[in-house]
Amino acid sequence: MASVTSLSDSVQQHLASALSATLPEAAGADPLLRRSDRADYQANGILALAKKAKANPRELATQVVANLTAPQSASAVIKDVEVSGPGFLNITIADGAITENLAARYADDTGRLGVPYAAAPGTTVIDYAQPNVAKEMHVGHLRSAVIGDAVVQLLEFTGESVIRRHHIGDWGTQFGMLIQYLDEHPHELDHKDSEITGEEAMSNLDRLYKTARKLFDSDEEFKTRARRRVVDLQAGDPATLASWQKFVDESKIYFFSVFEKLDMEIRDPDIVGESGYNDMLHETCRLLEESGVAVRSEGALCVFFDDIKGPDGNPVPLIVQKSDGGFGYAATDLSAIRDRVFNLKADTLLYVVDARQSLHFKMVFETARRAGWLNDDVTAMQLAFGTVLGKDGKPFKTREGETVKLVDLLDEAVDRATAVVRDKAEKVGLTEQEITENGRYVGIGAVKYADLSTSAVRDYKFDLDQMVSLNGDTSVYLQYAYARIQSILRKADGTAPTPHPDLELAPAERALGLHLDQFAETVLDVAASYEPHKLAAYLYQLASHLTTFYDQCPVLKAETPAQIENRLFLVDLTARTLHQGMTLLGIRTPEKL
Ligand code: ARG
Repeated sequence: MASVTSLSDSVQQHLASALSATLPEAAGADPLLRRSDRADYQANGILALAKKAKANPRELATQVVANLTAPQSASAVIKDVEVSGPGFLNITIADGAITENLAARYADDTGRLGVPYAAAPGTTVIDYAQPNVAKEMHVGHLRSAVIGDAVVQLLEFTGESVIRRHHIGDWGTQFGMLIQYLDEHPHELDHKDSEITGEEAMSNLDRLYKTARKLFDSDEEFKTRARRRVVDLQAGDPATLASWQKFVDESKIYFFSVFEKLDMEIRDPDIVGESGYNDMLHETCRLLEESGVAVRSEGALCVFFDDIKGPDGNPVPLIVQKSDGGFGYAATDLSAIRDRVFNLKADTLLYVVDARQSLHFKMVFETARRAGWLNDDVTAMQLAFGTVLGKDGKPFKTREGETVKLVDLLDEAVDRATAVVRDKAEKVGLTEQEITENGRYVGIGAVKYADLSTSAVRDYKFDLDQMVSLNGDTSVYLQYAYARIQSILRKADGTAPTPHPDLELAPAERALGLHLDQFAETVLDVAASYEPHKLAAYLYQLASHLTTFYDQCPVLKAETPAQIENRLFLVDLTARTLHQGMTLLGIRTPEKL
């Protein structure tokens, strides 16, 4: 057994057939069903239909009710329906239907909690987690990685074929300088990979970068040699490429250590940096020039746009090839589009990139459209994210005004979280090893959740105190909700969680149950709109419903054995839903906390 029809879907179906039985021309119309405070669901669609048919909305609504309660199958789900206001329908679901629906989700042996696959999955190439070689990772790279990873998990869960691309910055003129320096100081990066930590790798690169830069700025002859090295690199000179590879490899040691800290799986074959498109650049330019999409302007190959002008009113072009023949960021991205569309056969291209690059992507996508590489069958979209701000509301910087190292930030989050975990450790009975492990899951979870719980385009404040707070919309709150259920299940000691559809439900049980029923719809919506923050909001509400439920409904001390079993089943399904939802966001749920 697999996918489960949600309660809202079955009500929707019953309503739709009652509507078309009442008013044949309303066939296919949307009854506009939503969750409501007054009843379980409210349908508002009859108003507009009555207006169109020139009928009295209350009368029409009354007839729909008569047709709705007729079939047996409908009355098993809908306990009560009444006409309210100008012609709304207030719908109450039968307790038994709620429990039966949840029981079917619980019994889904595919482990998907009854969540169906998307109706028409395709192939998405997602460009995310793209740091730059020989450079420290900063909070911007954190956002791309965290949001990108959540979108990958969500899409794969709905059945989409996902191809990951980490478009790292591994090409460009700065490598001339680095390679030349390394050639003149050949032992600077000598070591066996296994002997070095990510941090050491980064500090090697940093040291090399700084000294090479100093030399470049002060020594004209070195500068000339370095510039010649860029030409050699682009021409594919084997010795130059070998030195370049050393920088890439050293950087990867560092990248992988950061991604591991982030508890995120990044696979080497998915790292296809800017250099990966080097062989396509000439062809990309030729195609653009021959088709007239790009034109020569002052020696450079440019694409112009009517609506993109600089402050002086002059058009700002996308420069595909510079007048000295060099290729830049745009040529690489245009080549990557060709690769992703024609070789990888994607129908959707996603770019999880800082909003400050939006103009670049707007121009690149428009150029690709004009060239026919993107069309109605292949869409490209930048999933733009905002800036991470400090507590003062300004872009996040150290006190010295430098960009904050991602690693320092993650370490601090883990330290704070470990302190929070340690506070309760004795009561919960955690070993030292569990404290360390949970501190990591809580700390990294806090950072990820803070990033994922506001809509990506918005800026957010990086506030560790708030992030590891036990109250409020934080991952720790959700992790505690999960762990608390596990503790109850352990205490249940042999009593198996079992659904009893014949039991009446308390209001808090109904609210929890109806929210659990919405998980599938939420996941599908969130995956289709690439909005993980809506899943975070759903999970937070789920934990809040659970809190109310605990306040009002004892579990292990419920009145009858059947009620105990049914409540255990409810909380167990809640835990599984929390776990599944958090997993999709890349956040762990420790069993004991
Ligand atoms: N490496 C770039 C940066 O650090 C991000 C790359 C984004 N992806 C792309 N296809 N341009 O800003």
